[in-house]
Formats: sequence, structure tokens, C-alpha cells
Amino acid sequence: MSTTQQQGKSPSQSAVETRYLVMPHQANPRGTPFGGVIVAWIDMVPAMAAQRHAGKEVVTAAIDSLIFKEPIRIGDQVCLRASVNYLGTTSMEVGVQLSREDPYAGNSVVVTTAHLTFVALDKDKKPTPVPPIVPQTQTEKMRYENHKLRVKARKVLLGQIAVSMGLHSRFHLHTRRGVYDEFLMVCIPQHQEPHGKRLHQGR
Ligand SMILES: CC(C)(COP(=O)(O)OP(=O)(O)OC[C@H]1O[C@@H](n2cnc3c(N)ncnc32)[C@H](O)[C@@H]1OP(=O)(O)O)[C@@H](O)C(=O)NCCC(=O)NCCS
Repeated sequence: MSTTQQQGKSPSQSAVETRYLVMPHQANPRGTPFGGVIVAWIDMVPAMAAQRHAGKEVVTAAIDSLIFKEPIRIGDQVCLRASVNYLGTTSMEVGVQLSREDPYAGNSVVVTTAHLTFVALDKDKKPTPVPPIVPQTQTEKMRYENHKLRVKARKVLLGQIAVSMGLHSRFHLHTRRGVYDEFLMVCIPQHQEPHGKRLHQGR
């Protein structure tokens, strides 16, 4: 393990910022961008930040609820900024902000923010510890603290869902056959993550 990995990294060391131009082929039949394309970007950009922090392969474990507060139009530039907020042992919470920008007028509007949890995997595809995180700026420290509130809220919600479904644990919520059977679909090779066997979350 390198010295940086032992001492930890600041969120800015792994942050990712990228832009996409929303193209006509990404429209739905109503002529506005297809939400699934935007969700794929919301998964992919934070995944890159998580990969940079962990220095390892990562998988998406969870995506918090997504609310689109503003519309996006074909021809807009979409800017995504992602950084690691908080770590567990093998998991990382990454925050992403998506804003749309009219390339001619130059005005920028925040469309959504989301929080995703990624888990680092070792070469046997098992969860593996990630280097510590060292928040440095006031904003980074605030995001680190806010994470604790979100974790608490998620646990309460998942507990309530488990009780109402008569399930025993979080594990069953994710894997019990029958819960997700109605969503089965054909997974084609170009939908795989770069590392192979898993389906890219945005698909
Ligand atoms: C994510 C995954 C690797 C976790 O494996 P697991 O056997 O449940 O591992 P563990 O119970 O040891 O949990 C490992 C970490 O994941 C976290 N985790 C697991 N499920 C989670 C969830 N739904 N939400 C948030 N964190 C979760 C645990 O809290 C733990 O974090 P910590 O080490 O920081 O404390 C496993 O559930 C998986 O492979 N899921 C599918 C991921 C995938 O394919 N994503 C793409 C979908 S198309």
C-alpha cells in the first residue's frame, strides 16, 4: 500500500468533473432528453471518483432518490461534479451535482444532486477496505458530517420497508427472488461494466 493510501486522500484528490452535450439521439418521443441517459451519467461520473479514491474496481451498491428539479433540453451542456463525501470500511458515499448550461447564454442551473454508495472490490470481487478520507475545506467537512444524517435516515427507511415486506434483513431486500422478478430483462454485452460480468447501473 502506498503512503497516500495509508494516510488517506482528500475529496478533491479524487473529484471528477465532466461535461456532456445532450444530443438529439438521446431524446425520448417527446423530444426531451431520455431520463435513463441522464441517470447513466449520474452513476458513471461518481463511479469514476470512487475508483480514483479506492484505486480499485468499484460497484454501485445504492443510489439515493433522484429528483429532477429543472428540465434539461436537447443542445444543453450538462456538467457533472462528483466527489467522495464519506467512507465506511469498504463503502464510499459519493455526492454528485448535475447542472445544465445554455452554451450561448452561459447561464447555469442546478438540475439535481444525488448521493450514491459504491463498494470497492478486490481481485476476487469481494468487498475490500478503502484508504481513509481527509476532508480539508469547510464544504468537505460539512459533507462528511451530513453523510451521517443520510445514513441514519436510510437505515430507518430500509428497516420500515423490511418490516412491511416481512423480510429479515437488508440482504433479503436486495436479493430475494420475487421482489425484483418483474424487472427481469435481457442484458446485452455492451451494457456490461468495463471490468466484465456486472451490468452497468445506469442500464
Ligand atoms: C454491493 C455488494 C458488493 C455488497 O456486498 P455484501 O456481501 O452485501 O457485502 P457486505 O455486507 O460486507 O457490505 C460491504 C459494504 O457494502 C455496504 N452496503 C451493502 N449494501 C448496501 C446498500 N444497499 N446501501 C449502502 N451500502 C451498502 C455495507 O454497508 C458495507 O459497507 P462498509 O464496509 O463500509 O461497512 C453486493 O451487494 C453486490 O455485489 N451488489 C451488486 C452490485 C452491482 O452489481 N451493482 C451494479 C448493479 S447493475
